[in-house]
Amino acid sequence: MKNITVIGGGTMGNGIAHCFALNQFNVNLVDLSENQLKKAISTISKNLDRQIAKKIITTLQKSETLDRIQTSTVLENSLKETNLVVEAASENIKIKAELFKKMDSFAPSDCILASNTSSISITKLGAFTKRPEKVIGMHFMNPVPIMKLIEVIQGYKTDDDTLNQILTVSKTLNKTPILSQDYPGFVANRILLPMINEAIESLFQGVAGVSEIDQIMKLGMGHPMGPLELADFIGLDVCLSILNVLHDGFGAQKYAPCPLLVNMVQAGNLGIKSGVGFYDYKIDLKKPTVVNQFL
Ligand code: NAI
Repeated sequence: MKNITVIGGGTMGNGIAHCFALNQFNVNLVDLSENQLKKAISTISKNLDRQIAKKIITTLQKSETLDRIQTSTVLENSLKETNLVVEAASENIKIKAELFKKMDSFAPSDCILASNTSSISITKLGAFTKRPEKVIGMHFMNPVPIMKLIEVIQGYKTDDDTLNQILTVSKTLNKTPILSQDYPGFVANRILLPMINEAIESLFQGVAGVSEIDQIMKLGMGHPMGPLELADFIGLDVCLSILNVLHDGFGAQKYAPCPLLVNMVQAGNLGIKSGVGFYDYKIDLKKPTVVNQFL
């Protein structure tokens, strides 16, 4: 495996391109907009600078890494000689369905098609292609250059050869791949999102305030971020969409999203990306202030 196509140059896509290019793969990074691709390259460059400052890489490795990344807005051309596609486009089934059909039509027949989806069924994505045995989940964690885990999801028809190749390539990236079967939320989000939802429910019921809930989980449980802080970081729209997948997929009331979360998403308070969530990031992104008005 040498040539990788990464689809989507947002939060996750730029990190995925960074990791593959740093580890000697040639990367084609594809997005709909030139502007997004420029932003992605600038983010990768800044993140490589951070790795230089921490003495993880050299300046030569930075320039070689950037040289290995090509960008494009035309997916068809980028797929021609690719060995692996990692799709990291927006978490929307219609967008991903179209992309998987296109990937299947234009990528070589032996190319593996992976998705970084947080919650959409890999089996369902595989069914949009004529090669479901080569469709797999490669769920990177945010921020990708730092986090060690890749949750690898084996769809109902994913074959062992595809699985083994993805386990091997994940290790080449210096990550630890861990296998999950394809059921709603896989493992990471099936456990994480009910905790975040319960934190929001505690706030909604007035049990404690935002910073109290976050501090209790940080100081008491050793979590590096509180659940409400983490929800803002992930994006409240993303949290809501994962909870909806869990709720629909299992048909269980325990996954029903808290009405406060639903209201905040409808109001456009999505966390860091919109400037306000449980905290307000507009004045100083690094020192957010607690928003006190929730009911
Ligand atoms: P994002 O919104 O930051 O980036 C998505 C990118 O996809 C945008 O740049 C958009 O222009 C591009 N895009 C949309 N449709 C496209 C198309 N047809 N062709 C090419 N590019 C297209 O989203 P983010 O957060 O990077 O999420 C991407 C995927 O990663 C989603 O499936 C999400 O569930 C998953 N994920 C997100 C995590 C997070 O913490 N944000 C963590 C793990 C997985």
